[in-house]
Amino acid sequence: MNYLAGGVNSPIPIPLGYPKDIISGKGPYVIDKSGKKYIDLWMGYGALIFGHADEDIVKTISETIKKGWFFSYQTDIEKEVAQILHEIIPSAERVRFATTGSDAVAYALRLARTHTGRKKILGIKGGYHGVHENMMPGSGTIFSFNPDLIHFNDPVVVEEKLKSKEYACFILEPILANCGCTPPKNGYLERIREICNETGTILIFDEIVNGFRIDIGGSQKFYNITPDLSTFSKAIAGGLPLSVVCGKKEIMENFVPQGKVFFANTFNGSPLSLSVTKTVIKKLRDGTVYKKNIKMGDDFRKFLKDQIKSLDIPASVQGISSMSTIAFGCKKFEKGILLENYDSKAYNLFIQKMATKNILFPPMPTETIFLSPVHEEVFEEIKIAIRESLKELKEEIY
Ligand SMILES: Cc1ncc(COP(=O)(O)O)c(C=O)c1O
Repeated sequence: MNYLAGGVNSPIPIPLGYPKDIISGKGPYVIDKSGKKYIDLWMGYGALIFGHADEDIVKTISETIKKGWFFSYQTDIEKEVAQILHEIIPSAERVRFATTGSDAVAYALRLARTHTGRKKILGIKGGYHGVHENMMPGSGTIFSFNPDLIHFNDPVVVEEKLKSKEYACFILEPILANCGCTPPKNGYLERIREICNETGTILIFDEIVNGFRIDIGGSQKFYNITPDLSTFSKAIAGGLPLSVVCGKKEIMENFVPQGKVFFANTFNGSPLSLSVTKTVIKKLRDGTVYKKNIKMGDDFRKFLKDQIKSLDIPASVQGISSMSTIAFGCKKFEKGILLENYDSKAYNLFIQKMATKNILFPPMPTETIFLSPVHEEVFEEIKIAIRESLKELKEEIY
């Protein structure tokens, strides 16, 4: 009997042929109760930048846990990691640690409103920023507040909205990762930075997914645009629960106890997660993982594009570095796939075919595909399975 409400612990239904009893993971694989191995292309929503059960992370966890893992006093590791983040993330004049991405975003929004004395929030259609009510439009639940949402990659509409000077902040992922991986167009981030400066609007980069996936200093370092506030999670702690809100000193110092913006959560800044963050940063610092990810991501997308072209399947493939999307029924998409007529049935059929070959794609086309250097050893196997699955798809529906 499955006593989970609705049979799952997530809003995402489990596709046909997907395992329901994963008990372990190693490198590129997740393994179910019967011992069956699947190649994982979802990688903990992108958090597992070194793959499953990375040995350095396992070592860090086992050494740290022996010394105690939870204290109600200030810890040395929180100060140490705050300093490291200050050194590597351009916007991180000051840092606070939280537990989930939703917490970090909620703190950032609260800070922006208090600092500006404005209530409105501007966001992106199809963007996802967590479960709190300030950022959940159209979810079917009644909320007291809804953000104003505009299209990604369109600076003109940003200017139209923000010129009223009524908005506390503009929050966006610099690379959309929750409605098909969509990088910013040339000049977009530069222009929104200018508009926010001109209108006194706080610019928040939600880097919870793409942050440490793209560069050690986040997308803001990669694109050389510094927001006022930023949020990080997922890859920053290699899959352990930790999130970060960081930004300009004058804004961040609105947090209690100096300021009046409330900030608390029992598990904020978990020493265990922070010790893993230190290891993650140490492993990423020389740039080798990013170089491998760029090469593998480019090869992966080229392969997918060549296959869909030679089979004449209507689909588009896009992404950046280790993050990719295949959207059936779509041409090039610049505002995320939710605004396009994408074919989720074709995607479902494709991933079911991949699952029969023991390869798991993200269960929805809006979710990003994440690669890691551990996929190098199974890259050929992935390619063969993709080629066969696309051929089968062509025969059945195109
Ligand atoms: C961009 C972005 N922001 C915020 C969140 C919320 O993070 P969490 O699920 O840890 O609360 C997510 C989760 O996927 C996300 O992708």
